[in-house]
Amino acid sequence: MHSLQDFAAEKVAGLEARRLRRTLAETTRTDGLWVERDGRRLLSFSCNDYLNLTHHPAVKAAAIAAVETYGAGAGASRLVTGNYPLLEQLEKRLARLKGTDAACVFGSGYLANLGIIPSLVGPGDLVAVDELAHACIRAGAKLSGAEGVVFRHNDVAHLEALLRERRQRHRHALVATDGVFSMDGDLAPLDLLSDVCRAWDAWLLNDDAHGLGVVGQGRGAVRAFEGRADVPLQMGTLSKAVGAYGGYLCASKPVVDFIKTRARTLIYSTALPPAAAAAALAALDLIESDERLTAAPLAKARAFTRAAGLPEATSAVVPVIVGEAGAALDASRFLEGKGFLVVAIRPPTVPEGTARLRLAFTAGHPEDEVARLADLIRTRILGR
Ligand SMILES: Cc1ncc(COP(=O)(O)O)c(C=O)c1O
Repeated sequence: MHSLQDFAAEKVAGLEARRLRRTLAETTRTDGLWVERDGRRLLSFSCNDYLNLTHHPAVKAAAIAAVETYGAGAGASRLVTGNYPLLEQLEKRLARLKGTDAACVFGSGYLANLGIIPSLVGPGDLVAVDELAHACIRAGAKLSGAEGVVFRHNDVAHLEALLRERRQRHRHALVATDGVFSMDGDLAPLDLLSDVCRAWDAWLLNDDAHGLGVVGQGRGAVRAFEGRADVPLQMGTLSKAVGAYGGYLCASKPVVDFIKTRARTLIYSTALPPAAAAAALAALDLIESDERLTAAPLAKARAFTRAAGLPEATSAVVPVIVGEAGAALDASRFLEGKGFLVVAIRPPTVPEGTARLRLAFTAGHPEDEVARLADLIRTRILGR
């Protein structure tokens, strides 16, 4: 028993010394914008609630009504008795929004990638992943048992070189990327990636966690390429712009049929709670019908990048790279003192030497506060 405690304590002390220890800070969110931490009210630029829908009255009312009808939990896996009617409605809506024949809802985005990737590729296959892709894509790739290769960030020529060298030795190949990169906010070149995938018979998976509701008129990263990107596997989450919880895959009917009979994180995990599915349905109503709402986060992000003298934002996520972990923590603490919550992101979430402030802009951020934050970051953090 002692060796276990010694092991854990030593690990924590080592991380602490390098300012890489993570701790959980209690945070109260009673609207989609402001949070309370340590008794202080802060304007949050760290929630992925891009459309502030977590607290939208229609979304909350839908969740409450679903609890009244279907209960607090699903009671079992979808393949047993957990497949309550809202899930099929949600799948139809997601497929319509993404322009695919079918969809499959999972317990979360992380669970979706952990289920999808190993269902489609395994030993004898190849899986190529962008070096900055989300942890759950990497985890799914590793779990699959396929040969894994990493291509340089958004480097289509590098991906093509890897496929040229290796594709023929493998039965199937899957290429996976974030559509909007979670820590950098840039878009993957899905049009060019889909051309390369077509040429080498590789299956392209786009993780649209940060695209849905924000880019492509709210339809996500594939739509942003206006028909030039052919992406057969479009997964994402219901926990960011959609403001609820859950994950999904939109794809052709045969692929979705196959995933529903094979994905272990769907089969061996309880279905998501009815409140989450109902909230997501209500949120999708708003996303589909309100173009002004879905245009707002990017507009706020661009107002910020203009005022801060940073490259123009291409999504609601804007990184301010400061370098060392300690400097990022200090910058975050400084902004907290000024009334802003901007959490520092450190390795291993981002590469060594690129610790940063990651700003997430939302539809409801007040313009004067965005301008004040930009001024503080430009003058006091970037020193310009
Ligand atoms: C790109 C990306 N994919 C997947 C996920 C996981 O989604 P979820 O929070 O629904 O598990 C996240 C964030 O959490 C993400 O940023």
